[in-house]
Amino acid sequence: MIARPKFHFTPKKGWINDPNGTVYINGEYHLFYQHYPDDIVWGPMHWGHATSKDLLNWEHKGIALFPDELGYVFSGSCVFDKENVSGLGTKENPPLLAYFTSHHPDTGEEQQSLAYSTDYEHFTKYENNPIISNRKDSSVYKQDFRDPKVFINPIRGGFTMVLSAGPVVEFYFTKDLIHWEKSGEFNPNVYEDCGICECPDCVPLETEEGMKWVLFISFWKDNRHFMRYFVGEFDGETFVETGSVNGPLLLDFGLDNYAMVSFNNSAPLMIGWGECWEYANQTPASVYRGKMTIPRIPSLVKTKYGYRLRFTPTSEAPQKEYCLNPGEEIVFSNDCNEELKIKVTETEVIVDRRKAGDFSFSNCFDLEEFLIHRAKRFTGGTCKITVVQDEGYFEIFAEDGLLTFSVMTYPKTPLNLVCYISMNPGLEA
Ligand code: FRU
Repeated sequence: MIARPKFHFTPKKGWINDPNGTVYINGEYHLFYQHYPDDIVWGPMHWGHATSKDLLNWEHKGIALFPDELGYVFSGSCVFDKENVSGLGTKENPPLLAYFTSHHPDTGEEQQSLAYSTDYEHFTKYENNPIISNRKDSSVYKQDFRDPKVFINPIRGGFTMVLSAGPVVEFYFTKDLIHWEKSGEFNPNVYEDCGICECPDCVPLETEEGMKWVLFISFWKDNRHFMRYFVGEFDGETFVETGSVNGPLLLDFGLDNYAMVSFNNSAPLMIGWGECWEYANQTPASVYRGKMTIPRIPSLVKTKYGYRLRFTPTSEAPQKEYCLNPGEEIVFSNDCNEELKIKVTETEVIVDRRKAGDFSFSNCFDLEEFLIHRAKRFTGGTCKITVVQDEGYFEIFAEDGLLTFSVMTYPKTPLNLVCYISMNPGLEA
C-alpha cells in the first residue's frame, strides 16, 4: 500500500472527498472537507475540518458539521463576515458563515443551508434552514442543485453565490448573507454538452488588461469527471464569457484532481480533491481514503489563443524543476521495473503511467484514457516542468504551469529514481 503522503492533506481516518469552506482568517488557512468518519467509502457526508499556517502542515480539528433532518452535509463554502452583516456574531467577534447543501438521502432533495461560528471551529446550524429551499412538490424543483460558493460582489456591493443547477450554474445575490435572490445563470453547454455541473467557483484574477473573472466548474458526464474553466467578466449579476475561443477549457489533464475551489479572504489560491471518482472508492486503503492536492496559485496568462490559466504550486511545497527539449523524457522508476514517464514532443506533453504500479483494484485501467494523458503545447521548444511528488502522487506543472497533470500511481516501492532520457540523439538534456 502507498504510504500516507507527507505534505498533502489526508484525514486521520475515514473517507474524504471535495474541499469545502476554504478560507483564510487571522493567519490561518481553514480547510473543511467532505467526510465520512465511519468508513473508508463514501457515505453520510459530514464536514471535517483542519487548519494550517503554512499550507503544508495541517492540524486536525473536530467534525464541523454533522448530518441533520434536512440530510447529509454536501459541499459548500465559508465566508468570513467581517462586518457582521448577518447579525450572527458581533462586530468585535465577527462570525464565520458556512454555506452547504443539505442532501436528503431518501428524497434526493438538495437545498441550501447555513451554519455559523464565532470561534471558527464549533458551528451552530441557522434556525431557519434551508435558506434556499428546493422541495420536490415545488413547480420549480431542481435536481442536482448544490455546492454553493459565496464570494464578494465588488460591483453591487454585497455577496454572490454561484450554485450548480443540473446542466447550468445559477447566481444569487445578497446584502445580509442570509436572504438570497436569483440574479442570473450561465449555461456552459453552448459548445458541447458538458454534463452535470458540480462545485462551481467564480474567481477574479488580475491581468495586464485589468481584472478578469474565471468560472470554474467540475463536470460529471457519462461516468467521467472533469474540471473545466471559462474566462470572462462578472457583471454583478452573472458570469459572461469573453475569453476562451475554443469553448470549455480543461483544467487538469490528469484524472486525480476534482472539485477544485479557491480560498476566500486570501490571495488567489486553490485546492482540489486529489482523487478520481471513477475509482476513488476502490483504491488500496485501510485507515483512511483520499487526499487533497497541494494548494496552487492560479493566474491568467495571455497566449496566442487568449487568456489561459497557469497554476503554480505554493512555494512551500517541495518541488523539482526540469527543462526538457522535444524528444526528451523524465522517468521516475524503482527496482521493480515500475515507472512513470513524462515525455515532451514539439507539440505535446505526455504523461504515461501504464507501468507505474498495480491498477488491478479497478477495471477502469483497461482503458488507455486512464493510463496515458496528453496535452497540446502552446509553444514548441524547451519545456519547463515542475514536479511535486509525495509518495505515489505526482503533480506535474508543464509548460511553466499552463498544462497541469495530477497523476496518482500505485507502485510496490517508491518511484524516486529520476533520469532524463534523450529520445533524440543530439539533443542535450
Ligand atoms: C462532487 C460532489 C458534489 C457533492 C459532493 C458529495 O465531488 O458530488 O457535487 O456536493 O461531491 O459528497
